[in-house]
Amino acid sequence: MRMYDIILKKRNGEELTKEEIQFFINGYTEGTIPDYQASALLMAIYFKGMSKSETAELTMAMVNSGETVDLTAIKGVKVDKHSTGGVGDKISLIVIPLVASLGIPVAKMSGRGLGHTGGTIDKLESIPGFRTELTGDEFIDNVNNYKMAISGQSGNLVPADKKLYALRDVTATIDSIPLIASSIMSKKIASGADCIVLDVKVGSGAFMKSVEEAYLLAETMVEIGKSLNRKTIAVVTDMSQPLGHEVGNSNEIIEAIEVLKGKGSKDETQVALTIASYMAVLGGAFEDFEKAQAALEEVIRSGKAIDKLKLLIQIQGGNPDVVDKIEILPQAKYHIEVRSKKGGYVNSIDAESIGISAMLLGAGRRTKEDRIDFSAGISMKKKVGDKSNPGDILCVLHTNLQNTGEAERIALAAYNIGNSRVKVNKYIYGIIQ
Ligand code: URA
Repeated sequence: MRMYDIILKKRNGEELTKEEIQFFINGYTEGTIPDYQASALLMAIYFKGMSKSETAELTMAMVNSGETVDLTAIKGVKVDKHSTGGVGDKISLIVIPLVASLGIPVAKMSGRGLGHTGGTIDKLESIPGFRTELTGDEFIDNVNNYKMAISGQSGNLVPADKKLYALRDVTATIDSIPLIASSIMSKKIASGADCIVLDVKVGSGAFMKSVEEAYLLAETMVEIGKSLNRKTIAVVTDMSQPLGHEVGNSNEIIEAIEVLKGKGSKDETQVALTIASYMAVLGGAFEDFEKAQAALEEVIRSGKAIDKLKLLIQIQGGNPDVVDKIEILPQAKYHIEVRSKKGGYVNSIDAESIGISAMLLGAGRRTKEDRIDFSAGISMKKKVGDKSNPGDILCVLHTNLQNTGEAERIALAAYNIGNSRVKVNKYIYGIIQ
């Protein structure tokens, strides 16, 4: 078999066989297929797409490129959730303790942020002492004993994705449905959970900019999950503006704490309760969504959910006092107010630009090697639909850097102020089961 023929076949819009896909993934992971040929194939896939069966074969070939996690030592049905990535997305921080409060085992593998999107592992590391690299045994013991654990992805899980994702990042081939679907689902399958709830984001801060594309991605991933015997549900949620009011790391932890105390913003509370309810239904604890949601609302009201977050922080080596003393979290030296130049109503906020501005303040990484400043971030004082007079504060930038001109310009330009009040998008677009 020759890589040249595989590229040519896909370039001509033909369907690749299982053997051809395996040849590509194995050869690229081992280093016998060079970046330039892999890039050419990725671009051909970008333009010509892949059938459902090709996407499923690609996913399995990626799973088989490395180790897989065996969670059979965990009692009960294990649920995981995954977001396709957004700005201000702290839903995992909320749903892990929330679902675990109902006694459902949550075995969560998470990633780090890159570019304008944040990562749950980085956010948790802003809590002093919190360990995100658990050994396999610690992970399993914590889920068995406390019904929850979160860990960064282990070294050799889906090595094909690590190489391919880095290559896609520099060859403008990230936003391809079969490539995103196989990248996400291969990691979820290799991580060993029985059930997966996918949060597919749509809008200016997401990879999928239109609702139609988001549905297609959601359907593709749900089909892959089903074909590999994993119960999978996708929830399509809004990312046309940042989620909640905080974008960063330690400030997002504070906002997640607020939701678990029952004082969260409407958008985050609704998205978190929806994702958590489907996790509870797939985990077998409830027959229907409404009963699951009522039970979850009750664990927030009773204080069980916030106590569970304290426990999660404690068992992973962090200081649980942060839940009541947020000043323990890293604080930035400078707080810069970005003020509106004109009056009117906030018509839209470009979430990707807010993510980029936060990254420039130190809250994210431009390259994988960058270090994160956990105290850096943005507080959104105005959101879509809000009235804004000239001189009103739109957002506040938190940073330890002195030169923030570019971040300020980008944050201001992200706000589109119009003369009339627009309707706020719905938080949840739909469910794919
Ligand atoms: N998240 C992933 O893990 N992979 C993608 O391709 C896109 C988002």
